[in-house]
Amino acid sequence: MSTSSTAPEVIALPAATPVNEAVAQAVLDGLSSTPKWLPAWLFYDAQGSRLFERITLLPEYYLTRTERAIFTGYSDGIIAAAIDAYAAAGGKGTGKLRLLELGAGSAAKTGVLLDAAVRSQGSTEYLPIDVSETAMEEACESIARSSSGVVVQPQVANYVTDTLSIPPHDGPTLALYIGSSIGNFAPDEAIAILQNLRAQLRPGDTLLLGTDLVKDSSKLIAAYNDHDGVTEAFNINILRRINRDLRANFDLAAFTHQAIWNAEQSRMEMHLQSTKVQMVRIGALRTSFNFEAGETIHTENSYKFTQEAIRNLFSDSGFRIAHQWTDEDGYFAVTVASVS
Ligand code: AVI
Repeated sequence: MSTSSTAPEVIALPAATPVNEAVAQAVLDGLSSTPKWLPAWLFYDAQGSRLFERITLLPEYYLTRTERAIFTGYSDGIIAAAIDAYAAAGGKGTGKLRLLELGAGSAAKTGVLLDAAVRSQGSTEYLPIDVSETAMEEACESIARSSSGVVVQPQVANYVTDTLSIPPHDGPTLALYIGSSIGNFAPDEAIAILQNLRAQLRPGDTLLLGTDLVKDSSKLIAAYNDHDGVTEAFNINILRRINRDLRANFDLAAFTHQAIWNAEQSRMEMHLQSTKVQMVRIGALRTSFNFEAGETIHTENSYKFTQEAIRNLFSDSGFRIAHQWTDEDGYFAVTVASVS
């Protein structure tokens, strides 16, 4: 018997499987709104995280390799800027510079900076903070493998929803928030995240922020709509996750990926567009949602920054810019700012 390739993909779970309440609430809120939306954190189940790793290797997705090249080229200067800022602020602690990282994930790009800190002062401490326990285990393993002289103190915490609590330190701290992850938050949320961090830092401590810069829209659109369809698969995977986690019956073939440059808001947007009139049942919510043909679900914003936007973000969250590095095309900026 042959099977039809157009059959909707439905992953049936036993009814007794516990439902993740945060996922259920987010999906209920987002799909009950007009226009419909889903929060971008839903992308990152195991499959979504693997797809994101593939995105970072795509030729069109310049962000990851450009930021890494800046780190590789200027790591000694970055570490020196953090140590100098502490001295300039009159910091009296005798401890060495330590590095802390928000949303560390597997800490793939951090090794270059940790190595520079070890070169500069013999050893360092690294405090990765991430909501995912698995990511923290991977970070510890990868740093232990690749960087000697680094003591890792991982913390599982949600830096978006929870007040941060960072152990005291008798010396400078350089906090890293890289990969333009800040761009996935609306401006007021971005300020709140940096203020939450700022409240845990002391005079002379620094923040290194990676931000994707505004550029030609064709370059931006290609980065979010790659030739091989990896970003499309990443976007569609959010529906697969809802099918699995909430016993839904989204027909994955009846939604298409859209990547749009919103110049007014200075952001790339990702949407999923329904190709037809359809009704989707979400078993765990005991409800259904109707879609018009052409109706969209807004799944992600990725803000792109001007220099003015970077300056405002830092000043609104209590930091003063100390130094900035960019690549020669001006695609990406790495800025070190000190507590003001
Ligand atoms: C994680 N974040 C910075 C990525 C971005 O570029 O906004 C997520 C992503 N979405 C589509 N491609 C990559």
